[in-house]
Amino acid sequence: MTLQLRVYVPDHPLIKHWLGVARDRDTPSVLFKSAMTELGRWLTYEVSRHWLPTGETTVTTPLAEAPATLIDPMVPIALVPILRAGLALLDGAQTLLPLASTYHLGLVRDEQTLDNSCYLNKLPPQLAPDTRVLILDPMLATGGSIMTAMAEVVSRGVDPANVRIECVVAAPPALQQLSAAYPSLTVYTAMIDEGLNDHGYIVPGLGDAGDRAFGT
Ligand code: PRP
Ligand code: URA
Repeated sequence: MTLQLRVYVPDHPLIKHWLGVARDRDTPSVLFKSAMTELGRWLTYEVSRHWLPTGETTVTTPLAEAPATLIDPMVPIALVPILRAGLALLDGAQTLLPLASTYHLGLVRDEQTLDNSCYLNKLPPQLAPDTRVLILDPMLATGGSIMTAMAEVVSRGVDPANVRIECVVAAPPALQQLSAAYPSLTVYTAMIDEGLNDHGYIVPGLGDAGDRAFGT
């Protein structure tokens, strides 16, 4: 698979551990939700490393002046969880980015056609081009939902180079579509899986992430 966009699979024991817990079909819903929260936390930590805008300044300690690197408060940060399953990653992301605005986007796939439709869109009409946007969705399968989300974000003025997609398992069809449309984009995922089954589920995947996170 040749891709233009960048895909990071962080080599972190906590990410591997919680991915294993989430994959296990015997993991109960309450623990599955915890695993997603932890994956949201640690994947966001990895995303933030080269994405959060910083500025150099000087602070005065009780003893002397010292150089300091602080998060630039002038650059907006936006979290875009794709409902429902993306909500499971939100708590972990918000613990690291408490000042980010959260814009919910409700998308659902038709189980027969695999086409997605939007039932909730809380994005504002316009976003500043330098807004750092983090889209949260544990599953990138056919790629239909994430392509819809990207179109909604980019049409509001955001530079795709400032967007990060955070997911748990990504399938090749989704990554190929994203790469063709947004070569400057960066994706963080706990794992790239083999592919999709006849029903559009990621294999080995982790099943229906929304149902497992919310016990439905
Ligand atoms: C899942 C998942 C993604 C989408 C991925 O949501 O959270 O949003 O499917 O599939 P795609 O890449 O083929 O579009 P789902 O539609 O099952 O809704 P849910 O989160 O409410 O369960
Ligand atoms: N949505 C899910 O919840 N799981 C998949 O494997 C694919 C789409």
